[in-house]
Amino acid sequence: MPVAEHRTTLQEYVILECQEKGQHDGLDAVIMAIADGSCRVQQQVQQAALADVLGVTGETNVQGEIVQRLDKASSDIFVETLSQSGHVAAIGCEEIEKPVIIEGDVADGYIVLMDPLDGSSNIDVAVSIGSIFGIWRKKPGETVNEDSLLRPGNEQIAAAYVVYGSSTVLVLATKNNVCGFTLDCASGVFAVTHPHIKIPAECAYYSTNEGNNKVLDEPTKKAIAFLRDKYSQRYVGSLVADFHRNLLKGGIFAYPADQNRKDGRLRLMYEANPLGYVAEQAGGAASTGYQRILDIVPQQLHQRTPLILGNKDVVEQTVLVINGG
Ligand code: AHG
Ligand code: MN
Ligand code: MN
Repeated sequence: MPVAEHRTTLQEYVILECQEKGQHDGLDAVIMAIADGSCRVQQQVQQAALADVLGVTGETNVQGEIVQRLDKASSDIFVETLSQSGHVAAIGCEEIEKPVIIEGDVADGYIVLMDPLDGSSNIDVAVSIGSIFGIWRKKPGETVNEDSLLRPGNEQIAAAYVVYGSSTVLVLATKNNVCGFTLDCASGVFAVTHPHIKIPAECAYYSTNEGNNKVLDEPTKKAIAFLRDKYSQRYVGSLVADFHRNLLKGGIFAYPADQNRKDGRLRLMYEANPLGYVAEQAGGAASTGYQRILDIVPQQLHQRTPLILGNKDVVEQTVLVINGG
């Protein structure tokens, strides 16, 4: 079915947004590269077993995790579309140990950090998965190298994620503006469906892996108990899907550090920073439990962090309990 003609398309939106914001020349090309890549990933997600993209590659990534075939396929797709955009100077990717430095003079380049396929444990069981992108502007005149990617989240100029679920939704955050677009699979066009997203005032859900409760320290156990007493539990096991529901309905996601994961499980640069940026631009918050996610000065490309993400007041209350309040 054709996209209803009265809906603004993603292409039209990003051009207008870049004009209004200024200083964002070329950002539209980066966003459209993400959109084009996500259309191709969505086709593979839908085809799944029929396209022989399920299962593992037999490789282990820098995280020490088994690489699913769709992890690799989506990583390759987004590296290709972003590299060809003509405005990306470097890419950091969960599935690639070292940064991908784009050759040639990408003068006004952007730096993109990505989790090309989030929720890998759900790929083979047809549960919602996603892709996550943080976008920084290269420093003027900078010759990009590995250190160029180690930028705090508070220097992002945009962030985006895609949920491949019952529909395919791309959410784009720029300063003070979060907007959702739904893919018309027939035409490959994303059209505005969720303008001006703000996280609802009321928190409805909490999302955490309750199976980890036994390995939490006492203050964190108390914080999770505080959430359990107040909210309904929803946990998909795909960060993007859990976050997207909480962003639209009100909710909090918590993956704290535990005895087995002293630094937490999720990655700072391409999970916590981008979604923390989206949350903040929608009126929410993102914390490690001890500091604002976007203030962390990164030391390594694949470093992990505890993550508490969602309604600002509930994040603050949770942080208070974790810190003995
Ligand atoms: P990825 O598939 O990119 O490795 O991310 C998986 C993450 C995140 O999506 C999710 O919130 C979390 O892993 C689930 O972890 P548990 O299975 O330990 O709950
Ligand atoms: Mn992930
Ligand atoms: Mn991933």
